[in-house]
Amino acid sequence: MDFRSPPEVIDAAIAASEFGNFGYSKCPPPLVDIVIERSRALYGWDIDPRSIVWLPGMVCALNVCCRALAQECSQVFTQTPIYPPFLSAPGNFDLISREIPMRLEGHRFTFDFDVIESLNTSPGDLFMLCHPHNPVGTAFTKKELIRFSNWIVEKKLYLCSDEIHCDLILDLDARHHPIASISPELASRCITLMAPSKTFNIPGFGCSFAVIPDPQLRGKFKKALQGIVPDPPAMGFLLAEKAYRYGEPWRMELLTYLRRNRDLAFNKISDMPWLRPFKPEATYLLWMDARKLPTDNPHHHFEQHGVGLSDGKDFGAPGYLRLNLGCTHKLLSEALLRMKIACQALS
Ligand SMILES: Cc1ncc(COP(=O)(O)O)c(C=O)c1O
Repeated sequence: MDFRSPPEVIDAAIAASEFGNFGYSKCPPPLVDIVIERSRALYGWDIDPRSIVWLPGMVCALNVCCRALAQECSQVFTQTPIYPPFLSAPGNFDLISREIPMRLEGHRFTFDFDVIESLNTSPGDLFMLCHPHNPVGTAFTKKELIRFSNWIVEKKLYLCSDEIHCDLILDLDARHHPIASISPELASRCITLMAPSKTFNIPGFGCSFAVIPDPQLRGKFKKALQGIVPDPPAMGFLLAEKAYRYGEPWRMELLTYLRRNRDLAFNKISDMPWLRPFKPEATYLLWMDARKLPTDNPHHHFEQHGVGLSDGKDFGAPGYLRLNLGCTHKLLSEALLRMKIACQALS
């Protein structure tokens, strides 16, 4: 996002810089306390402090999941379109990546249970879920998560659930349900990934965490980290704590601002020829179908007109585009105007 972080986060960064000691750090206990308090208050999910493993980033966590399970897992499932590191992580450990296209139900992408429930799986295989989903913006419902969890448990699969966007639910009638809160059986097969980085715009200070209730699975994950993945930096721990402790009013304002951006972009793009936008229920990302645009390369065409969209082909969906809404209304309006002009140039 383009936004400045909450003022308490910026103040803490300034104070730490003035202190001027940039050595190593371990996780400060107040951060664990606030993670637990917040998870209970916002999501009704009780986290055991022993189940938390700190990491400097989520992409490395996706790779660590594959590394940790590489010996017992023969294939890694994920739903497309998907944030690109989900597609590349399995191959980094010589695992087969199986892509399951999401089902479009009306205007909303969701699980394709007909396909999922008929998959050929082996116990120990891994499913990597993005929840809420980047790029399509789906906030999966409890009913959907229960059905999916039952299938994971029945097939004895492992689940890695990337919930980095969980604090960014835009729809007023939607809420985030951590999938590990669905049942103890699912929790014992699950690695949940969370971070304050997307929500409070502090990804540059790398501080994320995995929640792994099962001691054996946690042991495998920690072994896969050893000697390769460092702890988060001291500034990352510090700013994570400040963001979680003081950032709630800022987050509420952010959600209001993003909702307005989402509605503006959705309405304007709906009026543009050939484009079909999908309204995100969560995240600050808007996915659109540009396959009808009369050009070979929609991504390149918009770039030529001064708008940098993400190319759907990187997400396993050529012909689609992703717009980032984490910017000022003014910048977004300018981008939308340029998109309209880019469409007109093709008619
Ligand atoms: C679903 C998802 N996971 C992970 C990341 C990246 O996390 P990190 O910067 O901590 O590696 C992103 C960033 O866009 C994301 O959308």
